Amino acid sequence: MHDELHQLFDPDSSTFTYVLVDRAAAEAVLVDSVAQRFDRDVAMLRRLGVTLRYVVETHTHADHVTAAGRLREATGAVTAAPFKCGISRADVQLAHGDTLQFGHAEVLHAIHTPGHTSGSTSYLWRGNVLTGDTLLIEGCGRTDFQSGDAGSLYDSVHERLFTLPADTRVWPAHDYKGNTVSTIGHEKLHNPRLAGRDRASFIELMNNLQLPKPKMIDIAVPANRNLGLTHAA
Ligand code: FE2
Repeated sequence: MHDELHQLFDPDSSTFTYVLVDRAAAEAVLVDSVAQRFDRDVAMLRRLGVTLRYVVETHTHADHVTAAGRLREATGAVTAAPFKCGISRADVQLAHGDTLQFGHAEVLHAIHTPGHTSGSTSYLWRGNVLTGDTLLIEGCGRTDFQSGDAGSLYDSVHERLFTLPADTRVWPAHDYKGNTVSTIGHEKLHNPRLAGRDRASFIELMNNLQLPKPKMIDIAVPANRNLGLTHAA
């Protein structure tokens, strides 16, 4: 086993953080950090004995603040974010089809999957897809704020995620029910919002969810555009 995927959970925001490791090269990539879990993540990297190469965002989160900026300062890692997210402080702006390389020969593929937000991006690595808030386990991200668009989410899932091999493991950015992992094959057949539903009825469903505004959105979105940093440079 030369590669590892570690899933970490923040119970306050129900956010998953992922650490992808090339064990042979002792290098890692971290996806979707949480400010309050900075110490946990630094300690884990130290325990694993790995050098952090990239800190990556799936999108501009509205429900928690990222630790990406502090992780860059602490480890020297390069920050990367989807270019349409307005995270102008990120070192690398990722477009659809871009890749990040780490370790000896590891490649993280960026798949632009707009819908939850216009910049939302999923990442494919070794039969694993990190879906952010685009595709959740038996659910999907909301599309009613922050440049969200239900039709775009439907197209992203059907054209860019459900076309992956059925055994591709699905690792979302959140879960609220204690689930940890799914597969593309399972979601294609059993996702109650997306399986067997046509585009028009999906849009109708999503536009009538009437969810409350996230408590942290007014703080989290501007903070995340700045990689969670409160200082300028
Ligand atoms: Fe989100």
